[in-house]
Parts: sequence; C-alpha cells; structure tokens
Amino acid sequence: MSNQNIYDNEEFFNGYKELREKEICLNDLLEQPAMSEMIPDLKGKTVLDLGCGYGKNCIDFVNRGAEKVIGIDISEKMLEVAKTESSHEKISYIRMSMTDISSLNMKFDFVYSSLALHYIEDFPKLMKDISDLLTNGGQLLFSQEHPIMTAAIDKNNSHFNYDENKNRVSYTFSDYNRPGQRKVYWYVDGVIKYHRPMGQLLTDIIRSGLALEEIVEPVPSQWAIDKLPTITKEFIKPNFLIVKAVKR
Ligand SMILES: C[S@@+](CC[C@H](N)C(=O)[O-])C[C@H]1O[C@@H](n2cnc3c(N)ncnc32)[C@H](O)[C@@H]1O
Repeated sequence: MSNQNIYDNEEFFNGYKELREKEICLNDLLEQPAMSEMIPDLKGKTVLDLGCGYGKNCIDFVNRGAEKVIGIDISEKMLEVAKTESSHEKISYIRMSMTDISSLNMKFDFVYSSLALHYIEDFPKLMKDISDLLTNGGQLLFSQEHPIMTAAIDKNNSHFNYDENKNRVSYTFSDYNRPGQRKVYWYVDGVIKYHRPMGQLLTDIIRSGLALEEIVEPVPSQWAIDKLPTITKEFIKPNFLIVKAVKR
C-alpha cells in the first residue's frame, strides 16, 4: 500500500501555501476554531500530531502546556517550514508516514490530526495503531473532509444548486455508499483521497477500542459570516467532519 506525497510536488505545495496565507480560508474561519474548542487540557501531556504540516498546532500544544510534542509528516517541504517557523525544544518533527506510527516506541496522552486522515487508505489499521499508542483515558481528536465532500467519483456530480436569484439552495452529491479511492484535481491532477461513508468510518473507530465522545460538523459563527458572508453555505452541507474519541 503506497502513500502519495503530494505536498512535495512543487506546484501543489505553492498552491496550498497561497491558500493558507490567505486571510480568509475555511480552515481558519471554520475548522480550526471548532477544533481548538475541543482540545483537552494538555498540561504536562505527551502529544502526537499526524500530518502536522507547518507545525502551527504543535506550537499551540506547547503553549497549552504540553510537555512533549511529536509532529510527523510525510512531506519534506512541509516539515522544512515547520522546522523554520514552528520550532521549540519540546517539539520533535519526524518525517514519516502515519501508516508507520506503530514503529514509534512511545505512548501518547493525546493524538491530534487536522485534515490529513482522508489521505489514508487503510483506516481500520490506522485507528488500531492510534488506539495502541494512546494511554488509557488518552484522547484522539481529528478533522477530515466531510464524507459528503469526498463522496462523488465524478466531480460534475458534486455541486451546489442555485435559485433564480443565484442563491445557493441545495447540494448535489453522488456515490456516497461507494467507499474507496478518489482522484481529484486540487492545484494539480491526480490528488488521491479516500472516501468512507460515515457509518463505516465511525464503526472503524469504535472497533479499534476507542469510545466516541463528540462528532462535530462545524457551522460558522457570526464573526466568520461577517468576514465571509458566503460561508453560510455550510448550513446547506458541511465541509468538515471532526471526531473526538477516548481510549477505553
Ligand atoms: C491539509 S494538510 C494539513 C496540515 C496541518 N495538519 C494543518 O492543519 O495545517 C495535510 C498534511 O498531511 C500530510 N500527509 C498526507 N499524507 C500523509 C501520510 N501518509 N503520513 C503523514 N502525513 C501525511 C501532508 O503532507 C500535509 O502536510
């Protein structure tokens, strides 16, 4: 099972960087604020960030009192930025695929991942590996693209529908109950993601020995709507899924 490393593709990396540097992006207006509220007390805790990217969250964990943070990512370019912009003595950045985390010889109180798990094919194995790394009572918090967003095999079957005044009124999607690989265009052709229907995804988590604590499909706060009025489209269909679970 091979892992795609698209963030090391120059064209993709530059496109993604531009997106994250924008003042107004859905990560900052919607996904990150919702995730931030769900992070438990980290004082003295050991934290693992899967697909840590630029390492911004790793710094946040240290600021929240974490004692030791490990950020892993498959992309050399993303880790280069992390090591330059988000370095700290309590943080170690390791270049590895999260499919190999069973080789980390450690236990963690908190495993976090923002928008990276939809790149992983074998979700049951990843959940089992995470469960094995967590201490009893340890927590997993992750976000991913919502299954409604990853569902369509043909992107032409995934779109908003508009009324005569050009207002978005509904959303069309397809292939929801056909799990598997999706190849999409995002800055470059052939970006690989994996679609999992909600029932399958949540069952895989439960079967790994984790108990679900909270499932969030974030909607924008008023401040976010003031910054980006079109973000009210999130009330029609969610972009993100956030899951919090605890090791039993
Ligand atoms: C959308 S970015 C999110 C980065 C960061 N978590 C954030 O929120 O800013 C997804 C990250 O997942 C990483 N990634 C993708 N597949 C991975 C894998 N198999 N193992 C580890 N990291 C992976 C990418 O290199 C990229 O840095």
